[in-house]
Amino acid sequence: MSKEYKLQVEAIKNGTVIDHIPSHIGFKVLSLFKMAESNQRVTIGLNLPSSALGCKDLIKIENVFITEEQASQLALFAPQATVNKIEEYEVVAKLPLVLPETIIGAFHCPNTNCITHEEKAVESSFMVMTKKDDVQLKCKYCEKVFSREIMTDSH
Ligand code: CTP
Ligand code: ZN
Repeated sequence: MSKEYKLQVEAIKNGTVIDHIPSHIGFKVLSLFKMAESNQRVTIGLNLPSSALGCKDLIKIENVFITEEQASQLALFAPQATVNKIEEYEVVAKLPLVLPETIIGAFHCPNTNCITHEEKAVESSFMVMTKKDDVQLKCKYCEKVFSREIMTDSH
């Protein structure tokens, strides 16, 4: 089977392809990065068949390379995603997804009594803790620990 035939969404010339996003997370990833606001062409594939995952989401953004910070945020939402850098139609790099050590300002603390809700000047800050395959976030201020799912679902 030719590569062209296998492509489920048109190939791009330059940009970023985020592949193997678990299905139903693609939309969240898109809003997280505000990719649709960049004025560049964005193609999204939702619920595409995948031999590895059964079903996957995929995002292609033309002429934009995601930043390291975005890649580390992506690691939290979709650790198994692959980020491909495309130049002149070729995959020139596959970026590893590395979890950040801390996440600042991205999420509200789920603890309603947390000081970060009262003091507007205090930016939320979570320490990323990994336990086997599981990721948990610990609030720097109230020191409560939350599962990755609680944080990423409320986004
Ligand atoms: N891709 C693209 N435009 C190109 C080249 C590749 O949109 N000009 C996409 C492919 O469709 C694929 C992803 O980029 O979704 C990665 O391409 P490639 O490494 O060729 O695919 P695989 O060999 O399947 O890689 P992996 O198993 O790492 O996902
Ligand atoms: Zn807190």
